[in-house]
Amino acid sequence: MLPESHVVTISRFLVDQERSHPDATGNFTDLLTDIALAAKIIGREVNKAGLVDILGRVGAENVHGEEQQKLDVFANEVIYKAMDHTGLLACMASEESEGFMAIPDKFPAGDYVLLFDPLDGSSNIDVNVSIGTIFSIHDKISEGERGTLEDCLQAGSQQVAAGYILYGSSTMLVYTTGAGVHGFTLDPSIGEFILSHPDMRIPDPPVKVYSVNEAYYDRWSRGQKNLVNHLKTEAGFGSRYIGSMVADVHRTLLTGGLFMYPSDALNPRGKLRLLYEAAPLGMILEQAGGRASHGSGPLLDVVPEELHQRTPVYIGSAELVDMAEGYLRSDSEI
Ligand code: AHG
Ligand code: MN
Ligand code: MN
Repeated sequence: MLPESHVVTISRFLVDQERSHPDATGNFTDLLTDIALAAKIIGREVNKAGLVDILGRVGAENVHGEEQQKLDVFANEVIYKAMDHTGLLACMASEESEGFMAIPDKFPAGDYVLLFDPLDGSSNIDVNVSIGTIFSIHDKISEGERGTLEDCLQAGSQQVAAGYILYGSSTMLVYTTGAGVHGFTLDPSIGEFILSHPDMRIPDPPVKVYSVNEAYYDRWSRGQKNLVNHLKTEAGFGSRYIGSMVADVHRTLLTGGLFMYPSDALNPRGKLRLLYEAAPLGMILEQAGGRASHGSGPLLDVVPEELHQRTPVYIGSAELVDMAEGYLRSDSEI
């Protein structure tokens, strides 16, 4: 007899969660279900990216019957098209689209706002290393019937939900609505996301691992250099860096540790984007008992001024994020 947890699909889990909210309309359940569908379609393409290229080379029709689109653009299209007609969204914004994405007039608009990074870690696609999709969900706050840019520029603390899909050795969907973090693993034999990691909590004490791209060491502030030097010497930490934020943060969620993408002399705000990378992953880690900081304060408190605004990122075990802030504080005390 299968244990109870093995037959809980994401759809069933969402319906169970919905029942605990008497005023629920079912719209959120539909929204997450549509995101899970988009994830399966993207995952199918990600898992054969190399093959698509080979098939295309021998003259066979590629899977799209047209010039193979880059996976970033393909994933962007899949998510937009999976969501635009649902009547659930007031608008969207994506890393791959310059401006905010209105819902076509021919479709009804809804009360949620979806911000997303359709494919995170793109540089790892060609070398078969884990990549992901990140999403952030807000309530519409503007007056009009359809969403505006204002609806997209909300602080991370206002998110009603956040999550990611990790296309790795297995495909996992992890999300939170502010009531804990739940992980689902795709069973490709039945095409269902199955509850595999209920109520995820960052381990305490954490494993001694820090995650940062040390190629930029010379461009870091004194405090950042002192922090990493402390971690690798007195504190005896090991280092892991995949280069896909979703994968590095997922590992940090499972084992504890500290993921960093600091600002530096060339990038005073760092590289990672606040709306659809740092804020959603920051909500996940905070909901799992960790912390998320921009280096001198809570990352989720930052109110964005523009869609693609970048931010330094320190996400992971609370004690390690606190330590990072301590070292960085010395920069402002000079
Ligand atoms: P994206 O592929 O969506 O542009 O994101 C890539 C990001 C993030 O996934 C990762 O943490 C970071 O780029 C790695 O940057 P470096 O190569 O500079 O370390
Ligand atoms: Mn990204
Ligand atoms: Mn991306």
